[in-house]
Amino acid sequence: MKIMVTGGAGYVGSHALLKLLGANHEVAVFDNFSNSSPDVLERVRKLAGANFRIYRGDIRNTAYLEQSFAEFQPDAVMHFAGLKSIGASNDQPLDYYSQNVTGSIEVLKVMQRHDCRHMVFSSSATVYGECGDLPCDENHSLQPTNPYGRTKYFVEEIIRDWTTSWRDASAVLLRYFNPVGADPSGQIGEDGTDTPNNLTPHIARVAAGLSDRLNIYGGDYDTIDGTGERDYIHVDDLAQAHLAALDYAGQRTGCEAINIGTGLGTSVLEMIAAMEQASGRHVPYVVVPRRSGDVARSVATVDKAERLLNWTAKQGISNMCKTAWDWQTGQHAGKRGLKPQRLIVCDERKSAILETRTLGIEKPRTSSLTAGNAINVDVLCQVSVKPKRTSVIEGWHPRVLQRHAQQAHPD
Ligand code: NAD
Ligand code: UFG
Repeated sequence: MKIMVTGGAGYVGSHALLKLLGANHEVAVFDNFSNSSPDVLERVRKLAGANFRIYRGDIRNTAYLEQSFAEFQPDAVMHFAGLKSIGASNDQPLDYYSQNVTGSIEVLKVMQRHDCRHMVFSSSATVYGECGDLPCDENHSLQPTNPYGRTKYFVEEIIRDWTTSWRDASAVLLRYFNPVGADPSGQIGEDGTDTPNNLTPHIARVAAGLSDRLNIYGGDYDTIDGTGERDYIHVDDLAQAHLAALDYAGQRTGCEAINIGTGLGTSVLEMIAAMEQASGRHVPYVVVPRRSGDVARSVATVDKAERLLNWTAKQGISNMCKTAWDWQTGQHAGKRGLKPQRLIVCDERKSAILETRTLGIEKPRTSSLTAGNAINVDVLCQVSVKPKRTSVIEGWHPRVLQRHAQQAHPD
């Protein structure tokens, strides 16, 4: 098939692009590089050993979009282009509505004018809002809690109406949960020009010594350890889901929304522990107040993806962290990279220094530290070095401390 990939130079788009080329689809990328770089596409070309056209432009530039469709004549669109920060959407809602909603309408109109009938759309678990204790299946009510989530919700509805009005058309709305990790080649990964707001790139920066500590947004949620729980999905699995969705859309009409996750929840503390394991470095953290717009728990029900797409996630948290760490510190790290990390191990009152250590810029493969018994000099929090004892730290939720102590001193 001939596929137009909007936003194909971005994080998820570049991984899907690689899969599409690997499956011998003919591909063109339409991207304005507002949050990516053309270099990414060069690397994808080399990795895939296949060529593709690139259209550099904004999806709201109707004339140029029209020209690209007239030249390339795609059968289907994978529509990744858009803005994606929940926090920024609270500050600039109109920009989010313009790029995500107006932009998507332009794409749909051009598709119809060029008889391009199939769409795979990057939607988000954010459309659900709080799932609470209910299973987060595709029939769950849609109550997004922020402007970004509402743009995804509106575009879903618009696409649904489009497939209802144009009976030859089909669409799959992929509701991603939390994409993380990178291609195992280390050549592509999450490389936006914006400062990352998401958890995993932040944890990787702290582990790499580029930030002093991680702020954990809230330790008093009703979750396994008080910190936010999410369904993290390896970007490689997510890219594979796009191929399955394309096959599905290509054989039918109508519109389906499908969750893409693993069905498993991971808390922020568990993610920190996994990154410490993958990197062999320490991730100092402090618990700060909740972030506005965040939900306690967001975990997918994944039966529909298995049933309709014959797709399930294959990779777990440790591989997500390993590939994210390799990307953080690898050949194309650019502004990411790795710095020596200075740690002080002290007693629980912080009255005596027991040992100082410097972790160099070599990449240790196994964890040389016991989580919880070392602190960065700048970090104000500490957990007991004595097994089974936890120091009381003002402002910390007891479950967070308990959880950390258990991780530090498992029986
Ligand atoms: P990304 O920012 O890395 O990629 C988006 C790409 O689209 C970039 O290359 C950017 O330059 C391009 N782009 C943005 N606005 C454009 C415009 N107006 N015209 C043309 N190109 C434009 O984001 P990503 O993480 O790869 O996400 C891809 C899609 O998946 C987005 O729609 C996002 O909302 C959605 N999504 C992402 C996540 C996530 O956590 N990464 C989760 C759920 C849904
Ligand atoms: N978190 C921290 N500290 C940080 C960053 C995040 O504690 O520095 C916590 C959050 O509070 C949350 C969890 O880590 O509990 C995950 O946060 P992310 O920002 O990584 O992800 P979100 O679930 O908030 O949102 C992400 C994407 C959205 C997407 C959504 C669902 O940012 O674009 O997943 O797919 F819509």
